Amino acid sequence: MVDNNTSLSELRKDALRGGGDVRIQKQHQKGKGTARERIDSFLDTGSFQEIGVFAIQMQDQVSNGKPRIYGDGVVTGKGTIDGRPIYIFAQDFTVMGGSVGNIHGKKIANIMDLAYQNGAPLIGLNDSGGARIQEGVNSLAAYGEIFFRNVRASGVIPQISIILGPCAGGAVYSPAITDFVFMVDGTSQMFITGPEVIKEVTQEEIDLNSLGGADVHHSASGVVHFKARDEKEVFEQVRSLLSYLPSNNLIPPPVSETLDEPARLTPELDQIVPGQADEPYDIQQVIASLVDEREFLEVQEGYARNLVVGFARMDGQVVGLVANQPDHLAGVLDINASDKGARFIRFCDSFHIPLVTLVDTPGFLPGIEQEHEGIIRHGAKMIFAYAEATVPKITLVLRKAYGGAYIVMGSKHLKGDQNFAWPNAEIAVMGPQGAVKILYRKELADAEDPGSLQAALSQEYRDKLASPFLAAGEGHLDDIIFPSETRTRIIQALHTFKDKRVPTPNRKHGNIPL
Ligand code: HXC
Repeated sequence: MVDNNTSLSELRKDALRGGGDVRIQKQHQKGKGTARERIDSFLDTGSFQEIGVFAIQMQDQVSNGKPRIYGDGVVTGKGTIDGRPIYIFAQDFTVMGGSVGNIHGKKIANIMDLAYQNGAPLIGLNDSGGARIQEGVNSLAAYGEIFFRNVRASGVIPQISIILGPCAGGAVYSPAITDFVFMVDGTSQMFITGPEVIKEVTQEEIDLNSLGGADVHHSASGVVHFKARDEKEVFEQVRSLLSYLPSNNLIPPPVSETLDEPARLTPELDQIVPGQADEPYDIQQVIASLVDEREFLEVQEGYARNLVVGFARMDGQVVGLVANQPDHLAGVLDINASDKGARFIRFCDSFHIPLVTLVDTPGFLPGIEQEHEGIIRHGAKMIFAYAEATVPKITLVLRKAYGGAYIVMGSKHLKGDQNFAWPNAEIAVMGPQGAVKILYRKELADAEDPGSLQAALSQEYRDKLASPFLAAGEGHLDDIIFPSETRTRIIQALHTFKDKRVPTPNRKHGNIPL
């Protein structure tokens, strides 16, 4: 009995050592933690229950003559974050570079099944050389099993990927299917093929970080939703994100206590938003003024900055904000903004998060490049996502909403539940300058002073065709409101539609234009 206990303790110690002191030291030198260190610093203290600590390869041949290591390069288990259950896997780069073999893959698949069955978020800490070369097709099979589970759990439980080291080849597709991807600057990379293969095939030369580092994916590719300076910051970011999310699709998001009065007036909005329709301002200031305690968690901050999306609370209730950003490209809708918006809207809809849309956009971005890259197909995603969403949808036109962008941005016609506008808003087929040039081409050409005629006609257009009172008169808006009452009116609407239920057609699924 004593012997058995002793040997269990020894074996356990052995298992916890992972790839051994030298490799752990190497990991630390790179500014990276080990799998267990990461779990310890991330989860609530003492909450982690490991599953599969003694999992090991059956055959020696796959370990390439090296000693087999308990755990097979991944630590899996259950724990809590802020008291709420989560399931987690953390790849251990000190064991065969965290590569994914048969047992490694089975452990991840098992934890994914548990998360799915128990309705709790799945969090993956990725730090891996990819498919374990020695295990051939078995390692590819392991990835396939993981991908399948990612897809099955999509829209059922939140899935979060944290990239803390290399993530190469087909391995990137599991994170790409998950809802949110986090990267750490300098120590993590994602790419399908590395610099050497690229050089061979296309003769292009590039280093690892310029190819697939956090900066690239946060700003250029849009693959990553959040970028952190280091591992400490990334875990704080994930905790913050989780505070907005329900654990699964059958329950509402958590409601928080707030000291911020729902009836708080927002007179500052009159100053923040300039009267001139084409004068830029920062929509973040509008968001800060509307939401509880000015707290806003922006998603994909560095990508398609002309559209701002993210989470906040209003009277304690979680909302997803979608807002044009007049400070960047005048707040136009383009390909990247459409992709970003559509994906965010669909996430919110999957997890019962009401949508608050702030509209101030001159429309879709004109241009040959946009047309040839498929703005038609991408813009359609936004329409699809808004129309399909059955969560409460509250929309406010702050200043301008022209053309297709008016319809797309949560309009009444896509079944917005409460649609507001401020008194100076302009809603029309196009802006006054363009419209007047088309309607009065001859008059302007013949005019002695075309400038002042253009100004007068533009004003007439604003009053007669673009006034929000026309839209309200036709029932396309529910109310015209003062900027100062915006917070309170949105909160009232959120309460009104809290228990909204919409029957959906009996179909397998729609066919979003991907
Ligand atoms: C087996 C691997 C491995 C792999 C790394 N190791 N990757 N073992 N299979 N895929 C092992 C190394 O042999 C080494 O073992 C240890 O992990 C650490 O690796 P190093 O190379 O010393 O580390 P480093 O210099 O930091 O470089 C990390 C790396 C590099 C950039 C990830 O190891 C690398 O390029 N690995 C291969 C990446 C790759 O091409 N993977 C396949 C992608 S295709 P020892 O014993 O010396 O410590 C793919 C298909 C997936 O993943 C398909 C899904 C559909």
